[in-house]
Amino acid sequence: MSALTQTLEAESAASGKNHKHLAQWVQEVAQMCKPDRVHWCDGSPEEYQAMLRLMILGGVAIPLAAEKRPNSVLVRSSPGDVARVEDRTFICSRSKDDAGPTNNWEDPAKMRDKLRGLFAGCMAGRTMYVIPYSMGPIGSPIARIGVEISDSPYVVANMHMMARVGSHVLDVLGESGEFVRGLHSVGAPLGPNQQDSAWPNNPEHKYICHFPETREIWSFGSGYGGNALLGKKCHALRIASVQARDEGWMAEHMLILKLISPSGQVKYITGAFPSACGKTNLAMLIPTVPGWKVETIGDDIAWMKFGPDGRLYAINPECGFFGVAPGTSMTSNANAMLTVNRNSIFTNCAMTLEGDVWWEGMTAEKPAELMDWLRRPWSPASGRKAAHPNARFTAPAKQCPSIAPEWEDPKGVPIDAILFGGRRAGVVPLVTESLNWQHGTFLGATASSETTAAITGKVGQLRRDPMAMLPFCGYHMGDYFAHWLKIGAQSEPSKLPRIYYVNWFRQDESGKMVWPGYGENSRVLKWVFERCEGKAHAVETPIGRLPAPSDLDVRGLNIPAADLSKLLSVDVDGWLAEIPLIRDHFAKFGNRLPNGLNREVDELERRLKAAK
Ligand code: OXD
Ligand code: MN
Repeated sequence: MSALTQTLEAESAASGKNHKHLAQWVQEVAQMCKPDRVHWCDGSPEEYQAMLRLMILGGVAIPLAAEKRPNSVLVRSSPGDVARVEDRTFICSRSKDDAGPTNNWEDPAKMRDKLRGLFAGCMAGRTMYVIPYSMGPIGSPIARIGVEISDSPYVVANMHMMARVGSHVLDVLGESGEFVRGLHSVGAPLGPNQQDSAWPNNPEHKYICHFPETREIWSFGSGYGGNALLGKKCHALRIASVQARDEGWMAEHMLILKLISPSGQVKYITGAFPSACGKTNLAMLIPTVPGWKVETIGDDIAWMKFGPDGRLYAINPECGFFGVAPGTSMTSNANAMLTVNRNSIFTNCAMTLEGDVWWEGMTAEKPAELMDWLRRPWSPASGRKAAHPNARFTAPAKQCPSIAPEWEDPKGVPIDAILFGGRRAGVVPLVTESLNWQHGTFLGATASSETTAAITGKVGQLRRDPMAMLPFCGYHMGDYFAHWLKIGAQSEPSKLPRIYYVNWFRQDESGKMVWPGYGENSRVLKWVFERCEGKAHAVETPIGRLPAPSDLDVRGLNIPAADLSKLLSVDVDGWLAEIPLIRDHFAKFGNRLPNGLNREVDELERRLKAAK
């Protein structure tokens, strides 16, 4: 028996778990990747501290000054590994058609061969961590289990915060429970006396691969965020969207918030916005409308299932936030700032000489001197950003001052409204209510946004991002739209959430934002709340129902009447110019585009022409 096999047997016996398929898979992976040792994660605070210590001793992490941010570290990645890599992300379904036109596809057998080659011996000199996790509160009928194998202590520490990790998950899994298999390696084996780098990754080969039919993820070469924390985008969106289609539920790129009126009435709202479009800010918003309150359930992902009463119930499958740091401040998102004031991991932020983190937009005045994310001395005169635009914080959700008491309720919360949105400088009004579920699905399916730094590539280009799921849908997007329509047909219209389209990012001719956003978005949320109650007025327009300027509560807001009417009017010519773009976008989905959506674009065109 080899030393490795002996260690493996000892480890899996020590873990006391008897899931045959899990034990066998761990053994096979270890034999392929050849780590020095295997560690089964128990999810304990001691284990978390051990990961931080390993990162600190290895020069990967710097402890922050305890009097500034207790129990927190800063990690700086290499400049080539700073965001999700969509062009290296693959859906390896058996048929190319099932991946659809919006995903990169590769034949599963070919991809497996390629990956086996890359994974062979890739963990030499490292520890292989086995991370059992639950997405969603343990015991929730909506929750699912996954096991991530990774050779990165950074991944283990982040997974501790983002998912429910540890031995109790194995207890739920029992001897034969189903789980999603996620295999991750930074792709940087170490020779016997080779010094590790501060951010091990593989600059030449990066692959983020999903095998939806076998519920597997193989991720190679990157240590960053969504590429490496496999519970998040890979499992909770790409694989879960396929499971949701097969089983009749929804896995969506949505925040979940609880809106409380001055009289204590509650509505739960989800919102799908592309990456770095303010989901975290909206989920933690502090309303400027007196008497109203927002509490947070989740900031990135919602899993929704019908309850016995025919309503859609949502859980947040995560239990931490992996938020974009730049732009976050006590003014833009005080709840996020208070969440990250302890027990947090910061990635690619700048560091102050006093031992704290800093990023653009955190303070009104820039510090005079910093160490930037590239480990270089920085001053405001340097002429470059101190933090990477996709710098992140990882923090436990339970630390958020606005977290709702029911955020871990296993049955989820009943959803009253769904918001879609994106970053659009022109044409798209502040808020539009859909006419019905199919029209709402159309609004989601045609959602568009100017791109941000959350993905590698060009920033500021307009792209259609249906339901903010473009990079996250694990199957053909035409079928995904059909799934939305099917969900809508499964309950009575009055029980389904109402659907809205919002745009906080309208600009005037000089490029200045017309709407103040942030806490002022509560004015729109209030209108949505009152529409759901059947109390607020709306105007029928060719694109849907809009509030008249007098329907929006703008008391105390200093906004010129001309700006408000611009935000709430329909630019008929601008919309007519969108029609061919929408048709081009829909043409990509060929005969998998549901007819209902083609009818919606025809109807929209007809209504717009009639309004000319
Ligand atoms: C995220 C993203 O990290 O959407 O949430 O990129
Ligand atoms: Mn996201």
